[in-house]
Amino acid sequence: MEKPEILQVGPYPDWDEGPLNEAYRTHRYFEAADKAAFLAQVGPSVRAIATRGELGASRAMIDACPKLEIVAVYGVGYDAVDLEACRERGIRVTNTPDVLTNDVADLGVAMMLCQSRGMIGAEGWVRNGDWAAKGLYPLKRRVWGRRAGIVGLGRIGFEVAKRLQGFGMQIAYSDVGPKSYAAGMEYVADAVALAERSDFLFVTLAASAATRHIINRDVIAALGPDGMLINISRASNIDEEALLDALEAKTLGSAALDVFEGEPKLNPRFLALDNVLLQPHHASGTIETRKAMGQLVRDNIAAQFAGQPLPTPVL
Ligand code: 8YV
Repeated sequence: MEKPEILQVGPYPDWDEGPLNEAYRTHRYFEAADKAAFLAQVGPSVRAIATRGELGASRAMIDACPKLEIVAVYGVGYDAVDLEACRERGIRVTNTPDVLTNDVADLGVAMMLCQSRGMIGAEGWVRNGDWAAKGLYPLKRRVWGRRAGIVGLGRIGFEVAKRLQGFGMQIAYSDVGPKSYAAGMEYVADAVALAERSDFLFVTLAASAATRHIINRDVIAALGPDGMLINISRASNIDEEALLDALEAKTLGSAALDVFEGEPKLNPRFLALDNVLLQPHHASGTIETRKAMGQLVRDNIAAQFAGQPLPTPVL
């Protein structure tokens, strides 16, 4: 029997490439020099798109595949998939929730600790001889016991909150409504009000057109010169120009960011700042989690082709 044909939007680790190529005829979009010509050539026989959270699938890509049945996202975020184009044609969409939740929360909390205690600078202090030459490292800000705000108390936000409880922090959150599982946490509907009562503001909500720039100039101003903004969601949730202005003017204390507009090419203004921790969108980047994500992508595609219920459907 002919193998079903798949459009692969970005590379995966070897442990995923092997089984994927074993089961399917994969067309490697990311290696094509002329993307439009490649789509015109292979699109007509493609039945599944395997993509990654930040790469998604555009309407043009979906339109080029008339036999498309499923878009399987390697990632929990599906904001880069044109859901409307999929809905119109009854194309299924899947993501990889749950398996990455704890790792993403871990990295968010690690970013807070690293930035607040100045660990990157402290490493340099040791390596470049400043410790011996200048003495004690400049004092940094405490984390434990301080006030944390979480924008979006979904799966990832809640895991961040649980970790912060271990640091004895006072936790508040905003979301579309109060959560029954948020015992001991204060619900603050308005993001500006939440920022005002936070030392550390975590952005953990799923991105969509509705959440674009939810962290705007006013929220950033309310967080203030002693505040830290931590983003482990999507860059589109933050007004990046406003963030850069505030970091440069020091009207915002600091930021710790795993995601950027136009990543992996980020705005060069970030590179000139000493009050921001920059991470290469790797919150889900552990071997264990990435293996589970790859498995889930394959399980979803296999279920679709076998006419079985999809393990983790979005649409
Ligand atoms: C990426 C992510 O998919 O889960 C998400 O939404 O953005 C990530 O897990 C991952 O970096 C793989 O590209």
